[in-house]
Amino acid sequence: MIHAHDIRVRVTAIEDVAARTKRFRFEPVDGGSPPLFAGGAHITVALGDDDGAIRNPYTLSGSPQDRGGYEITVLRTTDSRGGSAFLHEQVRVGQELSISAPINLFPINFLARRHLLIAGGIGITPFLSMTEQLADLGQNFELHYAMTCSGAAPYEAQLRSRLGRRFHRYCSDRGERIDLETLLAGQPLGTHLYVCGPERLIDATIAMATSLGWPSENIHFERFAGPPPGDPFTVRLAKSGQTVTVGQHQTLLEALERAGVEPPSLCRGGACGQCELPVLSAEGELLHYDHFLSEEARAAGHSIMTCVSRLKGRELVLDF
Ligand code: FES
Repeated sequence: MIHAHDIRVRVTAIEDVAARTKRFRFEPVDGGSPPLFAGGAHITVALGDDDGAIRNPYTLSGSPQDRGGYEITVLRTTDSRGGSAFLHEQVRVGQELSISAPINLFPINFLARRHLLIAGGIGITPFLSMTEQLADLGQNFELHYAMTCSGAAPYEAQLRSRLGRRFHRYCSDRGERIDLETLLAGQPLGTHLYVCGPERLIDATIAMATSLGWPSENIHFERFAGPPPGDPFTVRLAKSGQTVTVGQHQTLLEALERAGVEPPSLCRGGACGQCELPVLSAEGELLHYDHFLSEEARAAGHSIMTCVSRLKGRELVLDF
């Protein structure tokens, strides 16, 4: 599904950066500069053989100073709906794709006196652009990166040479762990914390910071909520009477877009809350995969985040 405001780009480079991890470079087909972005931003990429049938969000991993194009770094996952498999196996240099303009839901807070960045695994991607920007601007920061060291870790050499003593590595496959308590307790007032990676790292970091009295406005995190596949179901839109079938590998949002409906969306990863739609009835069980709704809101079942959540059942009726 191609959107009216999409940017048409050509793939100009594909490079292995670690096991099952590739970097892709996109440049506008019209030869101009793509829109500016700041560290932490992401784009969505229309993927699949069927006219970009799925749209996945990917963090921009290049430098914000690079005015020629965008770079994304993609781990080939086994539980993928097909987005990372498509990029790894079918996309070639020279091919054209459609992407959205950058959206930033994980921005740097430049009022901070210091920035503490914590990454786990492929969660390093937003910090690649953020550290470039922080270093360019002479900001006070350090990066703590937990990774598997048995193979080549993505970007380790680049980060080590760019950041020097501001870069700290932890080999999780050798049992090394970030000592969150010591690290977080030792930061000066006015420090902002940014964390991205596996759920357990994000949860543990937020819990430790909170227990040490960090203000919630100084804690920033980015979760990846890849929409899982599920059984097909039907969605009925009460206002128009339109009925749409959501396929096994499609999200509710993608099915609506494909049917010509334009529901709201932003992150497409279950985090921002933009795609929330009211539920009038559900013939089956709502499967909430987002990070936005509270437990109470989920239990009430009055709304659904269409970018990641779905129905296990027959028919969902939305007040839309
Ligand atoms: S688009 Fe952000 S939560 Fe769905």
